[in-house]
Amino acid sequence: VLAGIGLTIMIGKVYEKKIKKEVDKMVKNSPFRQKFHIEAPSGYLNDPNGFSFFNGECNLFYQWTPYMYSSENVWYQGWYHLKGTDFLTWEKLGAGIEADERFATHGAYSGSAIADDDKLTIFYTGNTRNEDWQRIPYQVIATMDKNNIITKRENPEITGILDGYTDHFRYPKIWKNFDGEYYAIIGIQRKNLTGTAVIAHSKDTYNWQILGEIDTNLKNFGYMWECPDYFELEDNGVFVFSPQGLYPQGNDYHNIYQTGYLIGDKIDKNNLKLNEITDFQELDKGFDFYAPQSTSTPDNRRILIGWMGLPEMKYPTEKYGYCGCLTLPRELTIKNGKLYQNPVKEIDKYRKNKIILNKEELKTGISAENSYELQAKFENIKESFTIDLFSNEKHTEYARIKYSATKKELWLDRGNMDIPVNESHGTKRLIANNLENNLTLDIFVDTSSIEIFVNNGEKIASSRIFTTNEERFIFADLKENAGKITYVELDF
Ligand code: FRU
Repeated sequence: VLAGIGLTIMIGKVYEKKIKKEVDKMVKNSPFRQKFHIEAPSGYLNDPNGFSFFNGECNLFYQWTPYMYSSENVWYQGWYHLKGTDFLTWEKLGAGIEADERFATHGAYSGSAIADDDKLTIFYTGNTRNEDWQRIPYQVIATMDKNNIITKRENPEITGILDGYTDHFRYPKIWKNFDGEYYAIIGIQRKNLTGTAVIAHSKDTYNWQILGEIDTNLKNFGYMWECPDYFELEDNGVFVFSPQGLYPQGNDYHNIYQTGYLIGDKIDKNNLKLNEITDFQELDKGFDFYAPQSTSTPDNRRILIGWMGLPEMKYPTEKYGYCGCLTLPRELTIKNGKLYQNPVKEIDKYRKNKIILNKEELKTGISAENSYELQAKFENIKESFTIDLFSNEKHTEYARIKYSATKKELWLDRGNMDIPVNESHGTKRLIANNLENNLTLDIFVDTSSIEIFVNNGEKIASSRIFTTNEERFIFADLKENAGKITYVELDF
């Protein structure tokens, strides 16, 4: 028997090596590989996980399935581990948390991490299925030492389904209170099929007590709340989560699933009421954004990174053996009761030459690199205008940013590209409305994505955009408006 098992493992390894070689080649041939966004070496990337500072370095993991179409009976899905110091360039450490035969037979799902002096505590969901294909979730802890050695605990912290809830119970986001006690917020579905999140508490990361649901005004808001995150910012409690089961309403909620936030009071074991001062606000108005996670930095900034993708969507990279990327990390601040998001300041050291683009030349097209930044500033806008990116030279295919002076709205349209993406969910998004006559845009373009920061982070839109154009052109018709567009070379 042992020899048999040995042989199977050996054949498995040889087979995997062969697949790896083939897939590596496919990935290399992709025209869509990003320059400054995190992508998997191969396979499927989804949620960011375990975003944390430990031992002087930033750790970031992501949900990773090494091969796009692995066999149905093999569950590789786990975490890929990255380390870095500036949020923008990363050392790749390979698989971090892996699926296992105990509490994660069907995937080491998402989770988070918090550092103590000598170890990083990683809290995540082990996904299992029994013979009847019923899901049994485990909330489990592993610790990582200073040599990146990860050890899983013997027993799960929370086993199975909670009373009054279904098997949809996943993704603990852990934090430490000012008094040094541990909390975690975990997404869950009530028996009446509405989504919510529960708060767990522990003095020592062993012995967790479920304190109850986070108390918000949203009692019936979608059927599942995924990827909850709670943090404190400028004396507020901020709750970020990804609800599933909301449907388009006016210009909101047009992606398959949403992600947004509530700002209110701080919560703790004596107070689970958020007392929010805001309605649910979408965090990102683009086509591709989900499951973000945040961390605080040693210099006390709150940085958030998201998945620039969504479950169940199809992307044209799949035929090259991989799928998914993360967003630029963004620093969060609160202004006028709203979250503002701006690219981390570390981006500055990658900015090289700045070139002010000529208005007349913009009308006939300016050739661009595959990745760059555009900084645009308009004052006293009188007329509608357009900026077209990812364009071919003939200006027949492009992604369009359009400002409407009559409606005071800013739109992104990716419906005029040669490669369509998930068109059944629409090809236009309203990025910002109620705009004043002044407008600033900070636009980051990578080989196959765009992130638009509007008015110093008041609104953001993140989207994947794919083109077969080998040469990329920028066109803009700024009309008589007073405005300036600066092209910034990025050196990654
Ligand atoms: C969201 C999600 C999480 C889960 C993870 C599994 O994208 O479904 O709820 O933890 O992905 O990969």
